[in-house]
Amino acid sequence: MLIDFHSHFLPQIDDGSRSVEESVQILDKMAEGGVDKLIATPHFYCTEQSVDRFLEKRRAAYEKLEPMLKKEHPELGFGAEVLYDHSLVRYKQLPDLCIEGTSWLLLEMPYTDLDDKIISGVAEMADRGDVKLLIAHIERYLNFTSMKRLEQLMRLDVLGQINAKSLMSFTSKRRCMKLIEHGYVQVLGSDYHRIDRGDVTVDKGYAVITKNRKFDDFAEYAEENGRKILADKPLDSIV
Ligand SMILES: [Fe+2]
Repeated sequence: MLIDFHSHFLPQIDDGSRSVEESVQILDKMAEGGVDKLIATPHFYCTEQSVDRFLEKRRAAYEKLEPMLKKEHPELGFGAEVLYDHSLVRYKQLPDLCIEGTSWLLLEMPYTDLDDKIISGVAEMADRGDVKLLIAHIERYLNFTSMKRLEQLMRLDVLGQINAKSLMSFTSKRRCMKLIEHGYVQVLGSDYHRIDRGDVTVDKGYAVITKNRKFDDFAEYAEENGRKILADKPLDSIV
C-alpha cells in the first residue's frame, strides 16, 4: 500500500491546484505512480482563518472535485498542513485538524531558527495527549536552522516526513539520506502543489532511497509506519 501523507491537490483552497482540471491531472499522476491512499493537507494558518471556516472550505473544495474522480484514483483522506504558532500549543480545536479518523497532525515548522521557545512549544504540543505530531518536510528546515536544532526537534515524541522531490537533486538527496540514517524519517509525502512545478509522486522518492543498499527495506518500513498512522496506532519507533 503506497501512501502519500502530504499534498495540495484540492482545487482553489491554498497555493496548490488552481482548478478542478488541475486537481484531476494531479490525481492521474498519483494513479500512474501507484499511489493507493492520498491525504489532502491544505495549508492552515491560524492567524488567517478559523478551524471551522477551514473545514468548510476543505469540504467545498472536495465537493467540487468529487464528480470528476475516477476509479483508478487513489483513495482520499483529509487533513491539514498546520503552520506552527505558539498560540496553537494549547489550542482546543487542534484535534479537528488531524488526519481524519486519527490523532496525527501534519505540523509545518516556521521558516526561521528553531529556537528554544519553538522547541519547547512543540514538546508541549506532543505531550498534550490528544494529538500526535508528524513534522512536514523536515529536510527543508536545514535552510533556516542548524542540524543541532533540527535534532533537538526530531528527538521529541514526533515523526518526520520528507518530500519525494527533495530526493531528486544531489545536494538535497544527500541531506535526506542523512536524516533517514539518523532515524528521523518515517514516511514520505509528495507535497504536490501544481502540475507544472516539478513535484513528483512518492513512488519516485522511495525508488531513490531503496536503490541505496543500506536502505533497501525503507519502503516496507514506511508502509508499515503509514498503516499504523492511518489506524491511529503508536509507532514503535517513537521514543
Ligand atoms: Fe505542503
